Amino acid sequence: MMHLGLIGGSGLYGLPLEGAEWRAIDTPWGRPSDAILTGRLGGLPVSFLPRHGRGHRIAPGELPARANIAALKALGVTDVLSISAVGSFREEMAPGHLVVVDQVVDRTTGRPSSFFGTGCVAHVSLAHPTCARLSALAAAAARETGATVHEGGTYLCIEGPQFNSRAESRLWRSLGCDVVGMTMLPEARLAREAELCYATVAMVTDYDAWREGEGAVDVAAVLAVLAANAEAGRTLAMRMPAQLTPHPCPHGCDRALDHAVVTAPEARD
Ligand code: ADE
Repeated sequence: MMHLGLIGGSGLYGLPLEGAEWRAIDTPWGRPSDAILTGRLGGLPVSFLPRHGRGHRIAPGELPARANIAALKALGVTDVLSISAVGSFREEMAPGHLVVVDQVVDRTTGRPSSFFGTGCVAHVSLAHPTCARLSALAAAAARETGATVHEGGTYLCIEGPQFNSRAESRLWRSLGCDVVGMTMLPEARLAREAELCYATVAMVTDYDAWREGEGAVDVAAVLAVLAANAEAGRTLAMRMPAQLTPHPCPHGCDRALDHAVVTAPEARD
């Protein structure tokens, strides 16, 4: 059975799910960011997790990403759509646009980012950190919002919580990154280890700090763009269930561990 997981912000709190229920979940990796809103949309099970907790209480570097992914997995989620705000390094990716990113560069530091380690060692591939199948479905749903949609792009994930300096912004832009945010990792890594299909739709809220004659990123402006485009986020989420195609995933996301575990079976904790 397909089950859509949504990770996103305040724009999605009021999703009109049938049989909606906030469920507190505990996992071996602790509690997720908040309770999870479960229910059905168009007959399909849907679970929504507010990434930073309701009221936005948890900083990007403090997110319990392992508990978040483990909780969605425990609920039976098969496909995770992550919706997040980003700054743009590209003139043509303007505030209000949606970018279905397909690559990521990791500049986070010290975030627990694997379910594996001492006792059981595994190496999954992250060559394609997002699921091409789910990303194409998300792009189709994104287009239905009426927003301008860019398919493909490289997401620079910084540690934050501060924004980039102008030098950093120009450096990463010149190195081929397209957008910048603080939350795609370790989420994408953990989704792959949990054998979940994962896609990110990034909403552009600003031009980061690289542009001549433009001021610094300003949270009030970021929030204003998010508020103005909250309806697009909701529409995107609500159009996803009709898009979902059944597993198995043609790219093998749901079988990512088949050949990944190195530790001998008799030696595993
Ligand atoms: N989220 C929204 N805008 C951002 C930016 N410029 N840098 C990092 N994260 C962001």
